[in-house]
Amino acid sequence: MVRIADSRGVHWTAASENTAQLLFDTIERFLTYRADTMARIDKVLAQDPECPGAWALKGALFILNRQQSMIPRAKDALSKAAAHSGGATARERQLIHALSCWAAGDLRAAQTALDGLLVDAPHDLLALRLQHVNAIFFGSPEVLRTTMARALTDWHDDIPGAGIVYGMACMALEEAGAYARAERLGRRGAELAPDDLWCVHSVAHVMEARGDLSDGIAWMQKPESYWQDRGPMRHHLWWHEALFHYETGDMDQVLAYYDHRLAPTAPVGYLEMSNCASLLYRVDAAGGDCASRWQDLVQNCAHLAEDRALTFADVHLLIALAMAGEDTALGRLARDLSDYAAGGTSFDRIASARICLPLSQAMQARRAGRHGAAAQILRDARYDFPAMGGSIAQRDMLEILLVDTTIAAGQTRAARRLVNAYLDARPHSAPMQRISEALGVTGAPAGG
Ligand SMILES: [Fe+2]
Repeated sequence: MVRIADSRGVHWTAASENTAQLLFDTIERFLTYRADTMARIDKVLAQDPECPGAWALKGALFILNRQQSMIPRAKDALSKAAAHSGGATARERQLIHALSCWAAGDLRAAQTALDGLLVDAPHDLLALRLQHVNAIFFGSPEVLRTTMARALTDWHDDIPGAGIVYGMACMALEEAGAYARAERLGRRGAELAPDDLWCVHSVAHVMEARGDLSDGIAWMQKPESYWQDRGPMRHHLWWHEALFHYETGDMDQVLAYYDHRLAPTAPVGYLEMSNCASLLYRVDAAGGDCASRWQDLVQNCAHLAEDRALTFADVHLLIALAMAGEDTALGRLARDLSDYAAGGTSFDRIASARICLPLSQAMQARRAGRHGAAAQILRDARYDFPAMGGSIAQRDMLEILLVDTTIAAGQTRAARRLVNAYLDARPHSAPMQRISEALGVTGAPAGG
């Protein structure tokens, strides 16, 4: 085995310089969300079956698929990585350890291991991307921001991949509300790494958070070829484009966009399902007619109902089943989630207990017409919404659900207060402005 440095000076262990270069190319494909990343890893492993970095990356891909059925495959890949790590660098062994913690459900241990790795190897962009993605699942802007703030210490424009790092920093700063700095870094990142979907995505978050809707729609305009050969992340980018249209209040356009870009035509993964449920719920709460789209969605995500691998996905699945009127499946999922939450102390099980249990009770109460009970459950759970993970824009769905349920309960006074608070944070939201007018909210937003 030899140790070869990548373009950032980070050493990887491989059978030859040729297979090391194949691994480097594959890592770049991973970083830019290429759909063929797994096929590329298998190509590396076909030529270099003992390459620990390739096995680690394979394990990471199975983990990020976020399906319980993929976890045994992740563990198998990581055990092979460990078995072949005798001649690997300490950094590679630490990466394998971090991913093994993650596969075992211990996100905090994975984060700690990646933090340690990045102190000594700050330019390991694979480890940094994994650390960033992991931090997203915490649902904590503070975790996200500090992890990226540490990373920025060691990066500048001339290091290959700096644009990808700036894109991640942009996302972290946006979630912390530091929009101006986030936009500066994100735009610079997009100049340096125009191929990085995440960077485009992070700037879209900034524009959405600030209500720069026409700029956001323009930002998302890419040639069709841009989206080709990308993985599920492109669907999430399209969700962001739809979200800009939603915020303008044009529900017909949102639904047309949904039908054109987002609607599932075959069984989908957690991210596509979450994008679809999140958008349809917003349209529904704004008075739009989603017609049979809910049924189409749940038919294409039935396989996810059996799979407890991600609280973020379960939150969206609960909403989708309830909105589709699938009461039997909703009840079954609620029982599964209750058993899951009681079954251990992994990060996801604790998060599920905090948010999925109250949400499942609230959605069942809504379906039974007990809107007052549903509203009370959601208000009690209000400060546990971040337990679902993801971004503020994604968690916004639960804020809208809280408003919508409170209105349905006939609790107008409470609803006015919630709507005022919502518009204080997101004054540009045309759908919420309409709800505000219908409720006769007359007070100034708290920050106005
Ligand atoms: Fe996003």
